[in-house]
Amino acid sequence: MKKIIKNGTIVTATDTYFGDILIDDGIIVMIGVDLEAEGAEIVDAAGCYIFPGGIDPHTHLDMPFGGTVTKDDFESGTIAAAFGGTTTVIDFCLTSKGAPLAKAVETWHAKSRGKSVIDYSFHLMIAEVSDDVLFELPQIIEEEGITSLKVFMAYKNVFQADDGTLFKTLLLAKEQGALVMVHAENGDVIDFLIAKALEEGKIEPIYHALTRPPVLEGEATGRAADLTELADSQLYVVHVTCAEAVWKITEARKKGLRVYGETCPQYLMLDQSYLEKPNFEGAKYVWSPPLREKWNQDVLWDALRNGQLQTIGSDQCSFDFKGQKDLGLGDFSKIPNGGPMIEDRFSVLYSEGVRKGRISLHKFVDIVSTASAKLFGLFPQKGTIAIGSDADIVIFDPTAERTISAETHHMNVDYNAFEGLEITGEPVSVLVRGEFVIRNKQFVGKPGTGQYLHRKRFNQMEKLPIKEKTIGGYTNVGL
Ligand code: URP
Ligand code: ZN
Ligand code: ZN
Ligand code: ZN
Repeated sequence: MKKIIKNGTIVTATDTYFGDILIDDGIIVMIGVDLEAEGAEIVDAAGCYIFPGGIDPHTHLDMPFGGTVTKDDFESGTIAAAFGGTTTVIDFCLTSKGAPLAKAVETWHAKSRGKSVIDYSFHLMIAEVSDDVLFELPQIIEEEGITSLKVFMAYKNVFQADDGTLFKTLLLAKEQGALVMVHAENGDVIDFLIAKALEEGKIEPIYHALTRPPVLEGEATGRAADLTELADSQLYVVHVTCAEAVWKITEARKKGLRVYGETCPQYLMLDQSYLEKPNFEGAKYVWSPPLREKWNQDVLWDALRNGQLQTIGSDQCSFDFKGQKDLGLGDFSKIPNGGPMIEDRFSVLYSEGVRKGRISLHKFVDIVSTASAKLFGLFPQKGTIAIGSDADIVIFDPTAERTISAETHHMNVDYNAFEGLEITGEPVSVLVRGEFVIRNKQFVGKPGTGQYLHRKRFNQMEKLPIKEKTIGGYTNVGL
């Protein structure tokens, strides 16, 4: 069914203008003034911004971790994402040494199939670069369209890979046109510091932060960047938290390296003191890398503004406070790492970023959507409002006021890290490929309608084929 979105202000990473958007078959087929099309449903967006749907490049849905499983799965997690203006997620597919990659990918398909209400794709974790992996990976990249590979430099004895594995992954990625993602912290030294703290009877949540100092994030970031230079490859550093890491990324980029960085709302808004909340409440704020001293927030905002960091991910990895986070009562190292953020990423960035003058409206669209589409092989199908792009659209009321709370959020978890935060601006309606998933702040989607996205290889831009359409005497003959 055709739709025309009228009276809104269209905002992309580069432009702001008034116009109508004609959608047919899930695709934006025309943008213009006073558009008409027979049988089209008219959607009035007066007073609203029309943004491209958010792309969350970093989620952990239904993931086993820390002796438990993340609370939000592909159904609850993507419903919450949609409420928050996100129309695509890229989730991390875990693998383990010695097991076929294809089996891991199939496990992730099974988790998401029939559940996701928005479009989705996977990054693939690389635990080792064995002969089997060398044989299998090119096939997975080609057949599954999984063009980003994740290496953990921390979580010793769980996910951590050694430098040789990282380097071999970078070489493979160069050859295959993939982007290597790293969790950059020095896992060996952290492991030592945790053991020492526990020996000294330091068991409270704050020691999570104190045993993972920023210098160890900076060191790992710099090491990964150096190995990227040696391999002439490309690197994306996930969840950057601190000045030490930003400096290393900036230095690499100044050399002209293909090194990119992501931060998350929690690092822009919350600080290390949250880990000291009484009654074990600090456990709610246990992420790795940890929340940092407050002054780092300005460094992160600056880095987003000046382009040294390109994206914002939620790192959605939700655990209930009661029954999951409390696995770490008596030992901070057993607190499951991560928090709920998929729903609030978009609006908090708008409210705290755009409204407070820290980033421009275009920068907002870029970091919340467009840059991820480009880096992860989805542009221009996703990440913009253009003729031929998927009609993934957020109709956003910039004046709506809301107080964030676990009482009203849609994530399947018993707390919200931003509880009580008053924000301005929120999605009213959200469309995925031209269909409403959220309409007038109500969920109207259906589990299983989200499509798996095969992504292009790194830096491989393609023009979209587009059907010829004649509307109102004008004809689009493609891009
Ligand atoms: O604490 C975090 N970040 N949990 C999720 C796993 C990861 O390291 O991204
Ligand atoms: Zn597939
Ligand atoms: Zn991580
Ligand atoms: Zn993560």
